[in-house]
Amino acid sequence: MLSSFSDGSVALVTGASRGIGLEFVRQLLGETPFTRVFAACRQPARAEALSRLAADESRLRVVALDVADEEQVEAAARQVAAETGRLHLIVNAAGVLHDAVAGMAPEKRLADVRANTLAASFAVNAFGPLLVAKHFERLLAHRERAVFASISARVGSIGDNRLGGWYAYRGAKAAQNMFTKTLSVEWARSRRNVVCVALHPGTTDTDLSRPFQGNVPAEKLFPVERTVRQLLEVVERLTPADTGRFLAWDGSEIPW
Ligand SMILES: NC(=O)c1ccc[n+]([C@@H]2O[C@H](COP(=O)([O-])OP(=O)(O)OC[C@H]3O[C@@H](n4cnc5c(N)ncnc54)[C@H](OP(=O)(O)O)[C@@H]3O)[C@@H](O)[C@H]2O)c1
Repeated sequence: MLSSFSDGSVALVTGASRGIGLEFVRQLLGETPFTRVFAACRQPARAEALSRLAADESRLRVVALDVADEEQVEAAARQVAAETGRLHLIVNAAGVLHDAVAGMAPEKRLADVRANTLAASFAVNAFGPLLVAKHFERLLAHRERAVFASISARVGSIGDNRLGGWYAYRGAKAAQNMFTKTLSVEWARSRRNVVCVALHPGTTDTDLSRPFQGNVPAEKLFPVERTVRQLLEVVERLTPADTGRFLAWDGSEIPW
């Protein structure tokens, strides 16, 4: 698997404490050319599954990283740069849809919109991947194949929006998509080894989707293992011509 990457490749995954990010870490440590994986999460001490994985795996390094805090992004990039000169895959999996502690829930209607939850959603879903790009860019400055993949969501598609609602999440994912596209234009000039894409994982059985799984047919709700296997297959097939695209788990194009 992942034979398009060089032997000895190094990956960074954000949002690695749970869900899709944690599973990316697991699968990258499997039969792949990746010899090191940096798993970034905002509270390593509370990331129990990740800590268990790290205890048995010398190729895995856990890094503290709250993507909504630029100083932490910068510090994490310095920490990773002290251990490796190159990254070949960055997966931005950190994301938020609801947070009971912060009083964040997807809005059903305009009256539910609140400035603080809009800001919180944009900070993680939209600004996070862009700040990761800014501070980790120098580790992508090499000649080997590299992929910068931001896990987006079909609901961030403006063209595909038929149901409405979910203002903060939809808006932040649409902004994430614009940042990914803009970054791909810049890197097509300056970092030609990097393929920069937005990926929709499909509805996946994680904490994020759990409250909303009621209307999802069983065959459309993917176990996290399947989601990540499918996304890695998409990543494996990416060529430089794909940079700047918004792709679903099956490789199909999603309208912006
Ligand atoms: N599940 C789906 O059906 C689905 C569908 C479409 C798109 N997505 C996208 O897929 C990505 C992964 O989602 P998931 O389903 O795996 O969700 P999840 O199980 O809720 O995991 C979310 C992850 O993001 C992390 N995170 C949240 N805020 C963060 C911050 N400020 N800094 C760093 N990490 C932060 C969480 O860390 P903590 O443990 O510290 O909270 C957790 O590791 C998200 O971008 C999501 O929007 C998911």
